Amino acid sequence: IEARLASGPLAGRRIVVTSGPTHEPIDPVRYIANRSSGAQGTAIARALVALGAEVVFVTGPAEVPPPEGVTLVKVQTARQMHDAVMAALPADAGVFAAAVADWRVAKEATSKMKKTAGGLPVLEFAENPDILKAVAGLEDSRPALVIGFAAETDDVIRHATEKRARKGCDWILANDVSAGTGIMGGTENAIVLISDAGAEEWPRMTKTEVASRLARRIAEALEAG
Ligand code: CTP
Ligand code: CA
Repeated sequence: IEARLASGPLAGRRIVVTSGPTHEPIDPVRYIANRSSGAQGTAIARALVALGAEVVFVTGPAEVPPPEGVTLVKVQTARQMHDAVMAALPADAGVFAAAVADWRVAKEATSKMKKTAGGLPVLEFAENPDILKAVAGLEDSRPALVIGFAAETDDVIRHATEKRARKGCDWILANDVSAGTGIMGGTENAIVLISDAGAEEWPRMTKTEVASRLARRIAEALEAG
């Protein structure tokens, strides 16, 4: 009998992680997407597993393969991701690294849209559920630690601090994705951790190192209760 008893500072902790982009269908052959590779969310899930956590990994169609040792939930749309996250609760912490599409096409066409002489399609949009905000606002099953990301430009700390308040989450990991930083699509990240203690700038490091550091911080915070 092989007993797989997790050990480590996150043993016995259940953590939900969202990752990757979402795909929002237009018709049976077309969709709206974004450029998220899923690299940061995948690295975070891997780091949490390495510290002994039970991880539910809810991912959109990412470029990078999913981590091992997680409960894998694959979704396409923001609404599916929302439902999968809610079904995964209760949890001790939630890390929302997915690049969720803000809008979906209001009415998905059930048949392929065709070119018609002289006409152009007009897409009407509807707003997707805000998964991070919804989880942070739960009364009964809110995880003790709710963590979001914010890719910002210009006044990164101000934007991220406002976003943290708007979402009602505990921490925001903000990164400056201005042109020239090489963060988008790259292997490195430059993080500012926004919490009720203020803004803490992390040195520029790889996404794997960001993941390890975050996992350790989550373990400490849950430990401290
Ligand atoms: N997020 C989410 N559900 C959404 C949109 C965002 O869970 N529908 C989460 C992201 O995973 C991220 C955080 O919220 O952790 C911030 O995402 P971001 O796109 O920066 O926030 P928005 O409120 O959508 O603001 P913006 O207008 O800047 O896109
Ligand atoms: Ca957004």
